[in-house]
Order: sequence, then structure tokens, then C-alpha cells
Amino acid sequence: MAEASNALFRDSELINQGKGLLIADESFDLSGISAKENIRYITNRKDIDNDLQKMGFDGNLSDFELEDAPDDYFDFILFRLNKSKVLTNYLLVQANRILKEGGSLILTGNNKEGVKSVIKHAEKMGAVVELELLGKGLRYARIEKRAGGEIELDGEEYRNFIQIEDEAQEIEFVSKPGIYGYKKIDEGSIFLAQTLNKDKFSLEGKVLDLGCGYGYLAASVGKNPKIESLVATDCNVASVMVCDHNLKELGIEATVTLDDCGSQLEDRSFDRIICNPPFHQGFGTSQDLTIKFVQNTKRLLRRKGIAYFVVNRFIAIEKVCYDEYVKCTELTGNPQFKILKLERLK
Ligand SMILES: C[S@@+](CC[C@H](N)C(=O)[O-])C[C@H]1O[C@@H](n2cnc3c(N)ncnc32)[C@H](O)[C@@H]1O
Repeated sequence: MAEASNALFRDSELINQGKGLLIADESFDLSGISAKENIRYITNRKDIDNDLQKMGFDGNLSDFELEDAPDDYFDFILFRLNKSKVLTNYLLVQANRILKEGGSLILTGNNKEGVKSVIKHAEKMGAVVELELLGKGLRYARIEKRAGGEIELDGEEYRNFIQIEDEAQEIEFVSKPGIYGYKKIDEGSIFLAQTLNKDKFSLEGKVLDLGCGYGYLAASVGKNPKIESLVATDCNVASVMVCDHNLKELGIEATVTLDDCGSQLEDRSFDRIICNPPFHQGFGTSQDLTIKFVQNTKRLLRRKGIAYFVVNRFIAIEKVCYDEYVKCTELTGNPQFKILKLERLK
């Protein structure tokens, strides 16, 4: 997993001088990387921002707001290919603008991730001056910006908000690219919301939506009168902004925070947690994420608190819960998803 990210740094002569920009979205893997003073980063995720800061990098956390960066500013840009085509298009257009003439876009990614076609698009900003296959389909490309180069892609789509109609609940959500599953309502989340709304005793007291995305779960349960206070949190900048907007529009009072798995929230402070945990990190799946979500759920739950998770059937979350001294019971399920009740054992 880390090879494609590490490969960005392989030409030490080139990246040791001049001003560099590291694009660090969820596909970027930090293991094996060390900070450099001449490289600043931009990320849209609080967990990555925390980690890069700890390593000694400087940079900023935003929804990739590169519009603020001056034209012809950077000598090089490091970009490990991203999963979202809309974001990739936006980043290529911006890279063409903010790179100096003669500056390099260093692009890495795997054939099966579609790196070849991205290199083809990027080539339009100048010329591919280096292209190497580093084994097992991993490609390294250096594209030099030349005068008159143009990226013929729609970079603007990344900034467009869209509307999602939830006909069943007669709710409308605002969403945008960069947010998990931004165009749709997650089937697992629909199942969890229906399950929770069928039983009026399922939620009470202080409730947390952990990994809230654009706010579907919080919005679906938020009018339950037994809820005394509602907190929604996510590590993704755009999610938090849009979730806050959506809950306000629906008249649901909630605190929405940008955080790494609720790390800034007080230990043992929630009666109920609702969660559709992530199991993808960039192009791959990650068991570490499941562990992280179970550990933090345990930390945040009050002694007699309950968490409701919806997970794909193939995720062996029960084993993770057992390791972490968390009781895990399947409440209900269908062929694709299971709804689990998590309680702390100690
Ligand atoms: C499967 S999605 C569910 C989103 C939303 N609850 C829904 O039902 O549509 C998982 C969410 O977890 C968020 N996430 C991933 N890692 C996180 C972390 N370390 N801290 C907080 N949220 C995280 C993602 O940004 C994403 O919004």
C-alpha cells in the first residue's frame, strides 16, 4: 500500500530544492516518509493533518482549496493518484496553474487504479519527461510544465454542490465531491436508520454520529425526542461543513466537529453511538480502521452505553470487538449488512 506514496520521494535531488507541494488525500500512505522543510502539504482530512504535523511537516487542512495558491509558484507537486476522478481532474487543473514553467508534477499510481489515463491527461500541461514502471503495475511519472500547456478537464465540478433526495423520509441533503459516497445514500445507513427508528427506545441521552459524512444518520434519527443532545463528527473537512449545513436546514440541533475518530471528545461521555464505519482507505481496505473505530467507540461510551454499527457481512468486526473487550451482538441483518450492538465489557 505504501509503495506508491513512497515512490513520490524517490528523486531526492529534485525534491530537495525549490518549493514543493504534497497532495495528501486518503490514498496517501505516510509510512516510511520523513518531513522536508521545502515541502508543504494540503489535505482534506484531520487524521492525516495530525499525522503530518507530528512528523514535522507544515501545511494546511482544507477541502483542497488551492485557489488561494498563486500562479507559477511551486517547483514540484507530489501527487499519489486519488480514487475520485472529480478530485483528480480538479487537482490536475490547479497543478497546471500553480506550477512554475519547467516545474514538475510527480504522479504515482497503479495500472489497475487507472494511472495511465491520468498520465495522458496530465501530459497536456507539457511533456512526460520520465516514466518508469516500478514493478507490479506501479508507475512513476514526471510531467514537466511547459508554456502554453492546457489541461482539458473540468476542474470546477469538485466545487459544485449537489442535492440528494431522500424520498422515503422526505428530506433533502446537500452534498459535494470529496465526501464519502457523495452522490447517494448508503444502503447500510438506510438499514441502520430504519432499524433505529423502528424501536423508539433505541436512542436516548447524549448521542454521537461517529463518521457522519454529509449527515444522513444524524438527520434520520435527530428528531427523536429521547435524544438530549446530538454530536456528529468526521475527519473530512467537506463532510463536516455540509453535515452542519444539512442538520441546521432540518432544524436539528447538533454539534458538528472535525476530528480524528472523535479524539477531541471526552472519554465515556456518550449514551449512544451510531456508526457506519469506513473500511476503505484510498484504494484498499483497512482492518486498522475497524480497530480504530471499535477502540474509540469503547473509549467514548458511558459504562452502560450502547453503540449501533452497520457493517458489511464480510467484515469480521466481531473478532475486533472480542480483542478489545467489547460485547458485540447481531441485532438484525440482511444478506449484505449486519446491525450490531456494541457494549463495553470493562
Ligand atoms: C461509510 S462512511 C459513512 C458516512 C455517513 N455516516 C453515512 O451514513 O453516509 C464512513 C465515514 O467515516 C469517515 N471517517 C473515516 N475515517 C475517519 C476518522 N479517522 N475519523 C472520523 N471519521 C472518519 C469518512 O469520512 C466517512 O464519512
